[in-house]
Amino acid sequence: MKTNGLIVVTGGTGGLGRRVVARLRDRGRNVRVLSRHPGDSQAGVEYTAGDLETNQGVEKAISGAEIVVHCAGVGKIKEDTAQAQNLVVAAKRGGVRHLVSISVVGAERIPVRSAVDRATFAYFASQRAKELVIEQSDLQWTNLRATQFHDGFILAMVQAMSKMPIVPVPAGTRFQPVDADEVADALVELALDAPAGQAPDFAGPKIYDSESLLRSYLVAIGKHRPILKIRMPGAAAAAIREGANLAPDRAVGRRTWEEFLATIVEHGTGLLAVRECVRGSPSKSSNSVPGPRPLLCLTTWWTVFQPRQRAPRPTETITWRND
Ligand SMILES: NC(=O)c1ccc[n+]([C@@H]2O[C@H](COP(=O)([O-])OP(=O)(O)OC[C@H]3O[C@@H](n4cnc5c(N)ncnc54)[C@H](OP(=O)(O)O)[C@@H]3O)[C@@H](O)[C@H]2O)c1
Repeated sequence: MKTNGLIVVTGGTGGLGRRVVARLRDRGRNVRVLSRHPGDSQAGVEYTAGDLETNQGVEKAISGAEIVVHCAGVGKIKEDTAQAQNLVVAAKRGGVRHLVSISVVGAERIPVRSAVDRATFAYFASQRAKELVIEQSDLQWTNLRATQFHDGFILAMVQAMSKMPIVPVPAGTRFQPVDADEVADALVELALDAPAGQAPDFAGPKIYDSESLLRSYLVAIGKHRPILKIRMPGAAAAAIREGANLAPDRAVGRRTWEEFLATIVEHGTGLLAVRECVRGSPSKSSNSVPGPRPLLCLTTWWTVFQPRQRAPRPTETITWRND
């Protein structure tokens, strides 16, 4: 289904959204961006100020749209639910043909029940809440679940950890980092195609235990940190230890964490050390993942899953130390 109507990208100023906008623009599509802090409009891209949570400016921003790609979010249950609800109402009123959304792998599998779960893993519940609003909307929709982005999550996580003098880490936590550019490619293809409901997961090429991710980053920036293993309580933590945030059968991403890390290091002389340090599993098997080797402490975990924790933009660099 290829038409040429207006495409609204919510959160089109964010890490994923701006990549989606660039791709749609490169394909000659008319794009409107909805966010609270809009950028300067440019050829083919109109930026509109609107707040999905308070519902200010949303109906106007959505008016005339054929397709909406929902990349906005703050990772909090109440806020992301409100955002999705307001978006759905506006999309219905505006006659939107296709509502496309991004979510996270494991959203439907990671139980967030107790106060402990909510303190540490509310992010997954926020994504599930958003999904449910869209699923139950009567709109034609597509939802893509991705694993954690190299620069939108993993980098922020290891940066937060590396600031601690001793890094306590939850045992058994693994990640399957994925490149946000590749997720944007997939999301754009889905947006321009017919509504598909739940799309197959989009996960990175390799699975890493958290300690490996941290150690590779520490090597890259020339730091050393002692690591303290902890076992995190709660049902959500248990599900994550069992790999509910992973999609080994959908390891379709190509760019690895090592490759990403190499590009953000200003001087590449330590790349070999980075490669040696990062111990990833073969892409199709979670069985060969190194055993639990914890790395985040509860505090750090809480920090990285909180909204507004952002990694540097790709234009920023990390200074390599050759000591
Ligand atoms: N990062 C990851 O690893 C990852 C993995 C899987 C799925 N996801 C999901 O992908 C989506 C995008 O992630 P991201 O990393 O691109 O996030 P991000 O960089 O934090 O961008 C969030 C965007 O949402 C906008 N926004 C926030 N609150 C808003 C509101 N009330 N009204 C309008 N716009 C609002 C922000 O713009 P303003 O601040 O200007 O409003 C920004 O453009 C999120 O739903 C996230 O959960 C992320």
